[in-house]
Amino acid sequence: MKKLSMIFMFLMLATMSVFAKSVGIAMPETHVLRWIKDGESLVKEVEKRGYKGLLQYGNADQAQQNQQIQSFLTQGAKILIVGNVNDGVVSVVNEAARDKVVVVAYDRIIQGTTNYSAYITFNNYKVGTLQGQAIESALNLGAATTAAPKYITLFAGSPTDANANFFYQGAMDVLNPYIKKGVLKVIGPYPETYKDTANFQRIATENWSGTLAKTRMENLLNNDAAKITLDAVLAPNDTLGRAIIEACKADAKYKSKLPVVTGQDAEFDSALSIKNGEQYMTVFKDTAKLSEAAVILADAIANGKTPEIPGAILAEGDLKEIGYTGTGYVPAYLLDPIGVTKENIIIPVNAGFYTAEEAAKLK
Ligand code: GAL
Repeated sequence: MKKLSMIFMFLMLATMSVFAKSVGIAMPETHVLRWIKDGESLVKEVEKRGYKGLLQYGNADQAQQNQQIQSFLTQGAKILIVGNVNDGVVSVVNEAARDKVVVVAYDRIIQGTTNYSAYITFNNYKVGTLQGQAIESALNLGAATTAAPKYITLFAGSPTDANANFFYQGAMDVLNPYIKKGVLKVIGPYPETYKDTANFQRIATENWSGTLAKTRMENLLNNDAAKITLDAVLAPNDTLGRAIIEACKADAKYKSKLPVVTGQDAEFDSALSIKNGEQYMTVFKDTAKLSEAAVILADAIANGKTPEIPGAILAEGDLKEIGYTGTGYVPAYLLDPIGVTKENIIIPVNAGFYTAEEAAKLK
């Protein structure tokens, strides 16, 4: 009997020791391909540090992600790394806080509470600036005239994702002066800033859905943009960029020349599109660096140490807003994004961002 209880005790301790060092990794979706890579990188990074990684994808459904997070808590996870779908995540974040579990918001701020440890992302305002500057240079807006204006239509990311506001503002702070001068004309709704919520909602794309973006682009081509030729489309990420290009390619007007279409995430399909002269640019956010930084951050907080994140800056001054949750501020650490066009597509390739097979197709 004694031997049996000893074995039982050993098994209990072994199980607890495994789960006590578990990290719950909740990614929002997989229809935007980059999150698959993020989840895999995060598991690798936590395992490097002796943790067990519990990974789930939320299928763009916050209720489903909340159940996944509650399951992590039940399994005894002491750290959560969360890329949320929307602010419905607050209820489980508060549950985790009550259990003294470290919660790090991953590349999407958790809005509606400051009841968590930190936020790690890229300089999302700079992501937008890079998109705006790409359009500025591709259209040579500095030399554009009111007699022969350039035409653009605007898309934004999901209205439930605060990042979408910063992407948009970064781009429009570059483009607004040209619109004011009358050398760049907007076709369709024109929110000067994301704070023009009525118009912003009209260009936003629920859950970053490529299907919704393609339908909206088709409607624009057949209506508002029917009588002109678009020179550019502001697309906030690669999923939307590729969907917009698909719609344009079906319109005879763009058979020989597509509008300048932006993107973000350096997804392979978009990198290939850029190499083939279709999508104009993307923004490379090295998620291997982001996942490493997120785990270093979470591990430091869990061990009561001051986080030292290689390559990251703390969001302060003009960038402080990136850490605003709607109810207050959390420490936000920002990595540096890189604008990528056909000329420097080798950057994500050399960073090892793609598989060997994919990389071979981009060289
Ligand atoms: C944002 C993220 C972008 C892009 C987008 C679509 O939150 O910062 O990089 O992935 O979601 O999922």
